[in-house]
Amino acid sequence: MSQAITSVLQEHRIFQPSEHFRRHIGPIHVPSMDAYRQTHARSIADPESFWGEVASEYHWISPWSKVVEWNLPDAKWFVGAKTNACANCIDRQIDSGHGDEVAIIWEGEPCAPDPEVRRLTYRDLLRETCRTANALKSLGVRRGDVVTIYMGMVPELAIAMLACARIGAAHSVIFGGFAPPAIVDRVHDAKSRIIITCDGAWRRGQIVPLKQNVDDACAKLPDVEHVLVVRRTQSAVTMKPGRDLWWHDLIDSQSDTCPCEAMDAEDLLFLLYTSGSTGKPKGIRHTTGGYMVFTAYTAKMTFNLNPDRGQVYFCTADIGWITGHSYIVYGILPNRVPTVMYEGAPNSPREDRLWSMVARHKATHFYTAPTAIRAFMKWGDQHPKQHDLSSLIVLGTVGEPINPEAWIWYHEMIGSSRCPIVDTMWQTETGGHIITPLPGCVPTVPGSCTLPFFGIDAAIVNETGEELEPNKGGLLVIRRPWPGMLRGIHGDSQRYFDTYWSRVPGMYVAGDGARRDERGYFWIMGRIDDVINVSGHRLGTMEVESALVSHDAVVEAAVVGMPHEIKGTGIAAFVTLAPDFKGATGDALRRQLGEHVTREIGAIARPDMIRFTGALPKTRSGKIMRRLLRDIAAGKESTQDTTTLEDFSLLAKLREGDE
Ligand code: WT7
Repeated sequence: MSQAITSVLQEHRIFQPSEHFRRHIGPIHVPSMDAYRQTHARSIADPESFWGEVASEYHWISPWSKVVEWNLPDAKWFVGAKTNACANCIDRQIDSGHGDEVAIIWEGEPCAPDPEVRRLTYRDLLRETCRTANALKSLGVRRGDVVTIYMGMVPELAIAMLACARIGAAHSVIFGGFAPPAIVDRVHDAKSRIIITCDGAWRRGQIVPLKQNVDDACAKLPDVEHVLVVRRTQSAVTMKPGRDLWWHDLIDSQSDTCPCEAMDAEDLLFLLYTSGSTGKPKGIRHTTGGYMVFTAYTAKMTFNLNPDRGQVYFCTADIGWITGHSYIVYGILPNRVPTVMYEGAPNSPREDRLWSMVARHKATHFYTAPTAIRAFMKWGDQHPKQHDLSSLIVLGTVGEPINPEAWIWYHEMIGSSRCPIVDTMWQTETGGHIITPLPGCVPTVPGSCTLPFFGIDAAIVNETGEELEPNKGGLLVIRRPWPGMLRGIHGDSQRYFDTYWSRVPGMYVAGDGARRDERGYFWIMGRIDDVINVSGHRLGTMEVESALVSHDAVVEAAVVGMPHEIKGTGIAAFVTLAPDFKGATGDALRRQLGEHVTREIGAIARPDMIRFTGALPKTRSGKIMRRLLRDIAAGKESTQDTTTLEDFSLLAKLREGDE
């Protein structure tokens, strides 16, 4: 199990929904625990009528014949229905007379001295999306194709996604922090022929060379036909004639209108690659109807969104991850509440950047990750104190278990002790929130993500699927399908079954260890597979190991998580070196290996600690004893049984440090 940060604060207080929330949020969608319990019970007892009613709030081109069809492990939602996710985000708001309201508020990173702000109304968004959709068509993109998007956080990123959705092409967004080899794997697996990128992206005053990274990747991607480039940083780039096109050259001349493709509810909306237990990231498949309904509805309930109430929603995630897909774009736009998009780093130009944005845009909702909160704490209270945060009503967190210190600081310092905190537990695979408080009714306890969302039949079970008694740790499972669930792993249906549905027959195994307390509240204990959660970003230990062994100096590598003050989990690497390697040694080699991993995967995968060792501890059957390494990385005396360890003297050496 990966290690959550150890908490020194014991926090048992229960926080009731606040008066401030009640007074300022507008209509409360779930106002009491009775209402929550009744609705949850109904959603589980009769999912068909429950989700049928929820779905009818959204725009459909033609209706479904059946709400759900379940042939384990394959689920179909809104069978036979036709819709378009882009229409639900944009056209629907215009058709109901709200076209001139703000859909997206965007802020660029550079401040000279004031930041560049762009506000796009639904009408603006429609025009830009249609032009982009027509441009993609002119490049030969057709319904069913996969378009890769590797961009910074600029409005054109959301526009590109919506344009794909409009014409029935799926998108595959790659986080801008990934390095060229990671791009190659993903583009190759998705069989994308078109990549949309930017010349560069602003990050802490520096330029991330996105286009250069795409060029490097394309050297190994002969099937890429076109690269469409948004000009953002004005940095010098090489444009390959015939292949590369400037966004503004192609898009500005396109027609402002483009019809929406009528998509089947089960047509692919997007792929998003995430890490698993093996070295190869998996392309998680999300389809149109179920994802659209689930993200819009969870956003509405979890954040208690209300249009016409001056709400402004600000999520600090990058759209390169699922949080940005679901809770910056697809889940927020259908709710007709402006969504704030920020381009850069939270400490650029100074550590008060996000608070200045909350104040400037009068954000009512703020959604971030525990790792960010721990960084804010470290930067100091003076930064939030400089700004007027009184517009805030609901705070959210996501990505990893939140330690009580961070929870309390967030509550007091950012929320003035009057904003409910929704600790939302979910995954790339779940599409949207699966366990979360609802801010108008569920009392919160720091560190617990509380209760299952409607339609989510979550439980803690043992390996045979029996539900465990309160406070016993076990596997987190979901016992029936939900609309936002993944529909598979791209190109690998066996891996889909094996990963999620085979460990406990008939149940979706999330990959997390958890317990439920007497109140029924869930407490997530951490991953049970070889996945670590670094700053709320998922990484496979094997991916990092493969990157390390691809360096000439390394023979073998074992990577485990270790407690880290800011990241929650840091990366510890145990490495055996090639005896005949003639290059750098010691810290210089550590630095080289760190840079090598950054080049192979990206900076998020760079180890926090590298320890050189003559051998790795293995069982007699040759398996690396990771649990032992985790204890060593955490500086703990190991409590693990070491009787199967091949070489006992190795243990003592590993504890001492380098060989
Ligand atoms: C893993 C999924 C969903 C967007 C961000 C991460 C962990 C996520 C919580 C939370 C405790 C959490 C789990 C999960 N996780 N949210 N509120 N409390 N743990 O998405 O990259 O797919 O990672 O993140 O371990 O399995 P992801």
